[in-house]
Order: sequence, then structure tokens, then C-alpha cells
Amino acid sequence: MTSERTATLSWDREEKKQDLPILSGSIGPDVIDIRSLSKTGMLTYDPGFMSTASCTSRITYIDGDAGVLLYRGYPIEQVAEKCDFLEVCYLILNGELPNGQQMAAFVKNVTLHTMVHDQLNNFFKGFRRDAHPMAVMVGVVGALSAFYHDSLDITSETDRKISAIRLVAKVPTIVAMCYKYTIGQPFMYPRNNLAYVENFMRMMLSTPCENFVANPVLVRALDRILILHADHEQNASTSTVRLAGSSGANPFACIAAGIACLWGAAHGGANEAVLNMLEEIGDVSRIGAYINRAKDRSDPFKLMGFGHRVYKNFDPRAKIMYTTCHEVLDELGLGNDRLFKLAMELERIALEDDYFIEKKLYPNVDFYSGIVLRALGIPTTMFTAIFAMARTVGWIAHWNEMITDPEQKIGRPRQLYQGHPRRDVTPIATR
Ligand code: SDX
Repeated sequence: MTSERTATLSWDREEKKQDLPILSGSIGPDVIDIRSLSKTGMLTYDPGFMSTASCTSRITYIDGDAGVLLYRGYPIEQVAEKCDFLEVCYLILNGELPNGQQMAAFVKNVTLHTMVHDQLNNFFKGFRRDAHPMAVMVGVVGALSAFYHDSLDITSETDRKISAIRLVAKVPTIVAMCYKYTIGQPFMYPRNNLAYVENFMRMMLSTPCENFVANPVLVRALDRILILHADHEQNASTSTVRLAGSSGANPFACIAAGIACLWGAAHGGANEAVLNMLEEIGDVSRIGAYINRAKDRSDPFKLMGFGHRVYKNFDPRAKIMYTTCHEVLDELGLGNDRLFKLAMELERIALEDDYFIEKKLYPNVDFYSGIVLRALGIPTTMFTAIFAMARTVGWIAHWNEMITDPEQKIGRPRQLYQGHPRRDVTPIATR
């Protein structure tokens, strides 16, 4: 980061001034380094961190105006087309694409860690069968720290690496277990002779009573969905993982915190909310009423799957998801899928509406993902768990980057206090 340039802050009719360094990254917006601002006795105020860079990072770059998403410098369009998800996991974790030998070793290492401790099976028994899978997933991933005392030293690179492998390897097994538990079917153990996504689909969608035959088009589609969700800069759940990790919490607890944050409908819960919204709209004749609700500030309803904090033209992932949606529905003979046609009409109407144009609201990654997942046979309640499974690699990469960042400190924002000034407690008899 370079800082030859400065921004000068002046206040009280320019009687007071403070020079603040301007830092430049490799690409993207410059930042004003406000770390010395506390000397003025003042703080910055930025609810939702709309104008705040919380850290430096080398993992993912987003240009919201240009619709650009880079994983370690590689455009999402190329990565989604030319890589598979485990290759992307290697890239995000290590910073470079693997060669053949590195990839083979990585795949073998992940494969040999896909099984979970068998006592975790008992852990599930404490949940109600009708619990939301995300509630179960938060609990079980957090509980992993009760099983891996041998790798919780966050100052050890070896421990951090094995924890990353364990999380990338075991979260799909746990996601499938969360689903099987809610439908009362037996857990399916991972198979080391199956590739990552096919292994997950077998654990999720088959039973001990039958052989699982994967459709390669569907396997590739799910693999691409995982790639599209693998990382996304300092989004809410990644920032949660970084904040939890800044206190020294172990990686399993930090990832559980990320899962909890992702669950929210404004974030990773949106894909489930999109499907529920489309089912509620039900027919193209009712789209107008819901568009009007979305535009009514007195109505809390928002068009799920639309809008984004950073993308103000288009979400590049949504374009790839739309293509994937077509591929899957065509493969399954569902080209006339009711909800897909409803979603396309909703998108068309919204994108022609002045409100959405003025507020720069476009479909985001969640708008079509739910339709694809549903066509793959994955129930709506599991959509966010699939998102969490994909984002685990991004979360752990950011956690590791934060731990090894020489500038990292425990995250501890301040506030603008609007409460009572000091006052004395009076006896209850006089209140
Ligand atoms: C993800 O951060 C990431 O990178 C997240 C993510 C990732 O990969 O990690 O990309 C994944 O979370 C995608 C977003 C999924 N969420 C949804 O689809 C839920 C619906 N979208 C909204 O909740 C909203 O668009 C957000 C939360 C995504 C973004 O909200 P912002 O950036 O805080 O913007 P805002 O709420 O301030 O909205 C600006 C204006 C507001 O109107 P005014 O107050 O200016 O009058 O746009 C309106 C909002 O009311 N608006 C919407 C809307 N989204 C924003 N109005 C109707 N429908 C919507 N979907």
C-alpha cells in the first residue's frame, strides 16, 4: 500500500485540520487511512460499513459498477467454466491454481477427511426432526471444535491447514446429515471413490437401499453453483468470521458464526426466500401487486433475489446462474418449469420498472439459484446450507488471512452514544 497522497480533514470553520494518508491497493478504490483520527477525539460514523474498508485482502476483488468478480485475480466467468469446485478451493486457500500434482494431492487429502467422528451421529439426536437444517448446521459445525483438540492452535500453520482441510471436507457430509436427519432417513457415509460433488449428492439424495447413479450434467451444475458461492470479499458472514477470529476463537467456532450470519434472509437466506416468494406470487397475473409492494416504503416486503450492496449494474454470478438454470431444466425436461417462467417474467417486469432502474436493483446470485437447486431435488430449506457449504472455503481463507495479517487486532468498533448522560440511582420508594 502506498501513501504519498493525503486527504485533509478540517472542522470548526477550518480552525482545526488533520491530514490523513490515502492508501492505494493493486486495483480498486483508494482508501483514506483514518487510524490516526482518534487523536482528534472524534470517531467516524458508518452504520452497515457502507464506506468502510475493514482490512486488506488478496483473495477476492469485486467491482460493483463493472460487474467484475475475481478470485485471486481470475474472472468468475473463466473460473466457473474452466475449473471445478475443489480446484477453486485450492486457488482460494493457496492463492494460485494447482498443477496436476498439487491438485491430486489436495483432492486425496480432502477425500480422506470427508468422514465425521461417529459420535457426531449422537449429537444430531438432540435436535427436533422438524428443526431448520441451518439451526442444526450451526450447532454441529460449532461442535467440531469438541472433536479436534489436536488442531486448535491458531498460531500453528500446520493446525490452520488441517482445520481448513477438515472443514472443506466435512461440511458437505454434515450438510447431507442435516437433511437426512430432518426426513428420518439414515445417514449416508461418504465414498472415497467418488469425486467431491458426486459424493455429496449421493450422501444427500440416495439411500442404503439403492445404488446412486449421478447425472453428470447435474453434478457439473451443482459444482458450478458451489464455485459461484465460494467467496465474495467482506460480505456480512465473512466479516462475522473475521470478527470472531480476531478474538482468537477456534476456526470451527468462527465458521459456525459465519453460518449463523449467512442464515439471514437479507444474505444467504435469500435463495430460500426467493422460492418462497415465487410460490407466494404463484402466477404472472400477481407480479404487479408484488412489484408495487416492493416499491412501497411502508411495506417491509422486498423483492428477494434483487439488489446488492456492491453490484449496482449486474451480479456476474446471476448471469452464469441463469445459464446453468436453463441447462439443468433442459436436461430434466423442465424447460416449461412454472417457477422458472414466473421468475423470468418477474425479472423482465422489474428491470423495466423505474423504481428498480433508479435504485440500481438487479437480480443477484440468489435469484435463480433456488430454481436450479429445486430442480436438482434439493428442498428449499436446504438452499442456504448449500450456500454455506460453498462459502466455507472463502470463510476459512479469510480467517487464515486475518490471523496472518501483521496489522490485525481484535475487532472492536466504537459508537455514537445517544443515551442518557450520567445520572444517579434514586431509592425505589421515590421512583
Ligand atoms: C447475498 O454482500 C454480499 O456480497 C452478499 C452476497 C455474497 O455472495 O456474500 O452477494 C450474497 O447476500 C446477496 C443478496 C441477497 N439478498 C437478497 O436478495 C434480499 C433482498 N435484497 C435486499 O435486502 C438488499 O438489496 C440487500 C440487503 C441485498 C442490499 O441492501 P443495501 O445495500 O443495504 O441497500 P439498501 O437496503 O440500503 O437499499 C437501497 C434502496 C432502499 O430504498 P430507500 O431506503 O433508498 O428508499 O433500495 C431498496 C431499499 O428499500 N431496495 C429494495 C430491494 N433492495 C434494496 N427494494 C425492493 N426490493 C429489494 N430487493
